[in-house]
Amino acid sequence: MQAAAPGPASERQPSRPAGSALLVSMDDLCEPNPAPQGRPQEAPQQEIRMLAGAPERSPNIVLRLDPCGSVLYANPAAAAFLAACGADEGRRVPAPWAEMAREACESGMVRSEEMAVGSGCYDVTLAPVPGDGYVHVYAVDITRRRRAEAAAREAGQKLLRSLEQTVAALARAVEKRDPYTSGHQQRVAAIAVAIAGEMGLAPHRIEGLRLGATIHDIGKLHTPAELLTKPGKLMALELAWIRQHPLTGHEIVKDIDFPWPVAQMVLQHHERMDGSGYPHGLQGEEILLEARILAVADVVDGLSTHRAHRPALGVAAALQEIERMRGRWLDAQAVDACLRLLREQGFVLPA
Ligand SMILES: [Fe+2]
Ligand SMILES: [Fe+2]
Repeated sequence: MQAAAPGPASERQPSRPAGSALLVSMDDLCEPNPAPQGRPQEAPQQEIRMLAGAPERSPNIVLRLDPCGSVLYANPAAAAFLAACGADEGRRVPAPWAEMAREACESGMVRSEEMAVGSGCYDVTLAPVPGDGYVHVYAVDITRRRRAEAAAREAGQKLLRSLEQTVAALARAVEKRDPYTSGHQQRVAAIAVAIAGEMGLAPHRIEGLRLGATIHDIGKLHTPAELLTKPGKLMALELAWIRQHPLTGHEIVKDIDFPWPVAQMVLQHHERMDGSGYPHGLQGEEILLEARILAVADVVDGLSTHRAHRPALGVAAALQEIERMRGRWLDAQAVDACLRLLREQGFVLPA
């Protein structure tokens, strides 16, 4: 590609482009102002000569186009860019670029955007020069940066998938020990996610809640299996042992670097709004919102399914129970969202 050289300064009208410091400097390079009186001219002219060569040495693309898409100037770095965008032997850019140049000249507005050109990606700025009827194009190749970002995103997603698989394996480990609560954590996760969605939580936060709910009873790994499956009423000491499971669960997961407060969800899922819960007797908003939602889902699933010490109470009774607990033990908004889902919106509890 033969790059056209910029025309001599005498052929252009003195003008100032709108809104671009770089553009101002381009014109200043081509049309140096006389040195102020009393200053030696040698030094500024030397600086100007050095700067005038800047586009020639720049790794970024510098072009000057007329409104028809003819290339009036292209620096050496522009050769590959012009070839990639389909310029006619470097003399004329294709129709879409010519159209952008024409629009920029007509509007007089500087326009910047990210563009895919060939297999590359560029930050492109079109800066019109009012009065002179041409537009400067500055393009920075950001292909490598975008590829690195895509690779980092993919690695992050891969890591998250393996984290989810590990969490699912941990959940299965808990439920293997207690056939009565088999599937409990998965069902609680599904209910909690639905409640959070109804309450309008952000998708990323809901994802964390789903993960936390999936392992909320992981501390039961440390509870003797005979206590988990014991029919009838539990003795005070047995109850105290079972009530250790939020603390034990927190101990198990607290060092895993989740991007959500999963360990706190596990720790707080038996806290109650009036401070009567365990292990720390937290109240109201001291309890993480995710844990408050989790508590509602946990109670609904616990009451509506069969347990070792009692048969299933059914969905209607479970809903009556959370209504009774609303505000005092369970978060009022989470209860309301759950009731709306099940009574008005046809949400069906997972089997
Ligand atoms: Fe629990
Ligand atoms: Fe539970």
